[in-house]
Amino acid sequence: MALWGGRFAGESSSMFKQVNDSLPFDQVMAAQDMQGSVIWSRALKKAGVLTEDEQQQLEKALTTMKQKAEAGELDFAASGEEDIHSFVEAALIEELGDIGRKLHTGRSRNDQVATDFRLWVREHVDSLKKDVIGVIRALLNVASRHQQAIIPGYTHLQRAQPIHFAHWCLAYVEMFKRDLSRLNDLKKRMNQCPLGSGALAGTTYPVDRQEIAKELGFTSPCLNSLDAVSDRDFVLELLFTASTSMMHLSRMAEDMIFYNSGEAGFLQLGDTVTSGSSLMPQKKNPDALELMRGKCGRVFGSLQALLVTMKGLPLAYNKDMQEDKEGAIDTVNQWHCCLCIASEVLDSTGLNEDRCREAATQGFANATELADYLVGKGIPFRTGHDIAGKVVLLAIDKGCAIEELPLNDLQSVCDKIDDDVYPVLQLEYGVNQRNILGGTSAETVTKALYKELESLDKLG
Ligand code: ARG
Repeated sequence: MALWGGRFAGESSSMFKQVNDSLPFDQVMAAQDMQGSVIWSRALKKAGVLTEDEQQQLEKALTTMKQKAEAGELDFAASGEEDIHSFVEAALIEELGDIGRKLHTGRSRNDQVATDFRLWVREHVDSLKKDVIGVIRALLNVASRHQQAIIPGYTHLQRAQPIHFAHWCLAYVEMFKRDLSRLNDLKKRMNQCPLGSGALAGTTYPVDRQEIAKELGFTSPCLNSLDAVSDRDFVLELLFTASTSMMHLSRMAEDMIFYNSGEAGFLQLGDTVTSGSSLMPQKKNPDALELMRGKCGRVFGSLQALLVTMKGLPLAYNKDMQEDKEGAIDTVNQWHCCLCIASEVLDSTGLNEDRCREAATQGFANATELADYLVGKGIPFRTGHDIAGKVVLLAIDKGCAIEELPLNDLQSVCDKIDDDVYPVLQLEYGVNQRNILGGTSAETVTKALYKELESLDKLG
């Protein structure tokens, strides 16, 4: 019989059970539910509801059940129970009879589920932080392996200005550091305990909510019982943080898919993270990267789905809120896998430094240097820009690079151009001129790389 069966004369239909039951997916919170129940039983004992002996029997049974849950030894499907809370209570009643029937005194599944899910999210925030740090480490390692390499930098996917490959890596490091700080923020904000809020109005039993919160590792109790049972901001923040980070992974994947293409040829991916074609024997496809990009769809979808689910809900608990779990559980799994595979992809990546250099010297990526050179000769930048543009046209016409044009050709466009222009047009010159905080010169990039490597152990 369901927990709430007393008021009902008839049984639930099987279709209702299929729609209503959450045990098939909320069983992932089994350990958290049992942990919460142990602390609740202690609170009930202190409040005079349970005797010392009753509490100890409950704690013992819950502890054993938790070990079984963690060992994967509980048969959830066979129980036919509605959700994880009913499953645990039914198992306690089966084992302890009336003592089991006392555990739910003063508690509702509404404050229980809010507490369990916070505990579950908090645990996953901690493990996801490690995954994000793993990607940062892999980026710093690949940057360290190719510190001298220069690649073309792009805007509009047109070659724009050359940059150090390590500068590209460090750009993604910045993004993943922000993801890490979002996880930290989320954990700080969500670390309040709903237990003791009852169904919606608080509880009549004199449980010590401060003590409950402390024992469950929360900073404090939630301050309003209505909010405590209806709030799912912590799930939304997790989904937003995951979505943003998946967007970062996807942009990195997109860059790497292009760098790996036959057309660019900047990098090769390892055999461990690529697949072949069933038809074309020569193929080696960047599937891991494509899936990092592709899985954004379902993760962003889960964020959108929960926002829409929550937006019309009156206070306090509504069953719609049970829809918070499947998307969040899937998101945590997908994000975790994508972060781990991203680290593997980066570890497996080999950079073809010669090919990168060749591409960086093509595409007139030194045209800005020519304009800046003319500024040095006293020409206003806008005029210098125009002259450099004309030089590019001439080079296109002659089918060569700017630095391959003889001096008299350059002087036919502008007589201020002299022999001293050639060193300025060399690849390293332009790159290393950007010797400003945040820029791409060898010196700034090396400094930034070492700073990140030094602080890696302090990340968290
Ligand atoms: N399975 C439910 C959920 O995940 C638990 C809370 C049920 N509460 C209720 N009032 N029916 O939301």
